[in-house]
Formats: sequence, C-alpha cells, structure tokens
Amino acid sequence: MPHEDSPGAAEEFGSLLFSVLSFRVYATAVRLGIPEAIGEEVRTGAEIAAATGTDEPALQRLLRALAGQRLVESRGEDAWALTGSGRQLLPGVPGSARDMVLFYGDPLTWQTFGALEATVRTGRTAFTEVTGSAFFDHFAADDVYARRYHAAMRAGSQMLAPLVVHGYTWDKAATIVDVGGGDGTTLAAVLAAHPTARGTLFDTAEALRDSTGVLEAAGVADRVELVTGDFRTSVPEGGDLYLLKNVLHEWDDEDCVHVLRSCAAAAAPGGSVVVVASLLPDAEERMDPAATMYAVVSDIQLMCLSGKERSRSGYRELFERAGLTLSEVRPLPFLPNYHVLVATAA
Ligand SMILES: C[S@@+](CC[C@H](N)C(=O)[O-])C[C@H]1O[C@@H](n2cnc3c(N)ncnc32)[C@H](O)[C@@H]1O
Repeated sequence: MPHEDSPGAAEEFGSLLFSVLSFRVYATAVRLGIPEAIGEEVRTGAEIAAATGTDEPALQRLLRALAGQRLVESRGEDAWALTGSGRQLLPGVPGSARDMVLFYGDPLTWQTFGALEATVRTGRTAFTEVTGSAFFDHFAADDVYARRYHAAMRAGSQMLAPLVVHGYTWDKAATIVDVGGGDGTTLAAVLAAHPTARGTLFDTAEALRDSTGVLEAAGVADRVELVTGDFRTSVPEGGDLYLLKNVLHEWDDEDCVHVLRSCAAAAAPGGSVVVVASLLPDAEERMDPAATMYAVVSDIQLMCLSGKERSRSGYRELFERAGLTLSEVRPLPFLPNYHVLVATAA
C-alpha cells in the first residue's frame, strides 16, 4: 500500500542525498587542507579557519559534519583533533584515499558527473561535453588535473597491488610489459615479489614522470626499462606477458581491439596478455551484490569520463576480435569484482 511504502522510500532518498553530501564534506575538507591544519595537534575552529583561509562560522559547521563522519573528534568546547581516519587524509600516507578524494572531488570531475543527464540523453561522453576534448587529450592543456588523475591512479594501485601480486602466477613470465602502467606502482610490487623477472613500464611521458622514484623505492629500478609512447600506435616488443590493468575500461571496443592486437603481435612466442579489470556480471551470472554495485557505478563514472566496464563475455569478445583466446579467469583475493583475465594467441 502506498502509505506503507512511503517511509522506506523517503529513508532511501535521504541516505542517497546524504551520501552525495557526505562525499562533498569529505572532499571539501581535503581540498581546504583541514587535515594538515590540524595535524597531530588539538586546534580551535579559529586556528583552523586562519590556517585554511576560511570563514570561521561556516568552518565550524563543516567540522561538526566531519565529526559526524569520524574524521575529526571534539576534545572539549571548540577543540578539534584528527581521528585515525582523519590522519589517513594527511599528505604522504601510503595507501590512503586522499588522492582519490582530490581527483573525484575536483570541480572538473564533479562538473562532469553533473553532466550525466546530457550523456544519457545524447550518448556523448560528459567530459567531452564539458571540456570540448577527450579525457586523455585534455591533460596536455591542464597539467594540474593530469597530476590529480595520476596521483589517484597511484593511490588505487597502492591499495590493489598486494592483491594483484597474489592474484596471478607471475613467475611464469621472465619479462613483463606493463602497458599503460602508470607510475609503476603495480609493476614494482610484482617485480619485488619475483626477483628474477624483468619489466618494461610503458605509458605516456607525463604518466612516467614520477616512476623512477617509485621503482627505486621498491628496489627494482635496475630491472625495469621505461618506455614512453602511445599504445594506440604500438607497444614495446618481445615481452612474455603484456599486462593491462585498469586500462581497457577507459577505451571503446575498436581502440581495445587495436591495443590487444598490438600486444599479441609484439609478444614473444608463447606470450600472454593479462588483463586486470573490474567485471560487470553477464546476463545470467550471479555475482556478489557489492561487486555488482561497484561495477555498475564504476561503469557510470566511465560513461561520464571515458570508456566502459565490461563483463567476462565482453572481454572474451575483444580478445577474439584481436586473435586471442581467453584461457583463464581468476577473481582477485578479497575483491570479488576484480578479476585477472589471461589470454593467449589463438
Ligand atoms: C586507469 S590508469 C591505470 C594505470 C595503471 N595500469 C594502474 O592500474 O594503476 C590508465 C593509464 O593508461 C595510460 N594511458 C592513457 N592513454 C594512453 C596512451 N595512448 N598510450 C599509453 N598509455 C596511455 C594513462 O596515462 C594511465 O596511466
């Protein structure tokens, strides 16, 4: 009966609205530098407002909301300290969500998500509608945004790397080419666990600019060759394994088939292509509901920024079109939406 349904629907709407605003509160705190303004001390609202150049009464209300999200805690009247979760948002904490929050909370990303309606109406990518250029093409004109994106990707990779290391038998390959490998966080973790393997890190020049430090910190720099280029043109030759982690979902089918074909052609005899990706469920597939939720929401963000998520059969079709055969699919440990898909020459 309608009147019985209403309270549930209102509650659901309330939590939806608040989840959007909760993220905004979180992102605003990071963008304003509130974690750094508090640091390890106990600060008053006036001190935090002075350090962040903000309006004190408005900031007090934000601090109250941050306390509700357990990022700060009250230590008495107008005395604020970071909680353990709040300290995770200080700069330079490995594996923290800070850089992801900065990218997803960036006004341009936010404006792009705001154009979802236009994308659903027209089928055109929201990011292109908003900026006039394709996602990666925009980076040449906006280095701050490019850096934010790469930092967010590094944060994601730092979280996933241990699972990726344990999610596949990497020691089958003597040489791993990480195509679109970003700053090398994933390749560094794989090579650190496999001391005889060598790697090639292939990406754009701007993505590789911090890679030497990442590889040196992991103690693998002497086993990695850095190669800059455009994977839509070619990929480095002669690897035993071509890794594409979180890469294909940013491209349309034609580009993906082209990149996969290039990898297959460049691989040493008997080589393989390994895709690490979040999977949408196939029509009849039963997938963990949380994993499905992650994949469908991720697909919406890709529809706005660039690309799309695919199901297992979607990837199988791409491999087949590129002359490869999908030979193995393994879920990553502890993360049921992420899978390792292994393909070999047909
Ligand atoms: C989502 S990130 C994934 C990075 C890394 N594989 C990871 O999992 O953290 C996609 C990567 O593709 C790279 N990329 C985008 N277009 C490229 C192109 N045309 N040629 C080479 N790399 C490209 C980006 O610079 C970025 O590092």
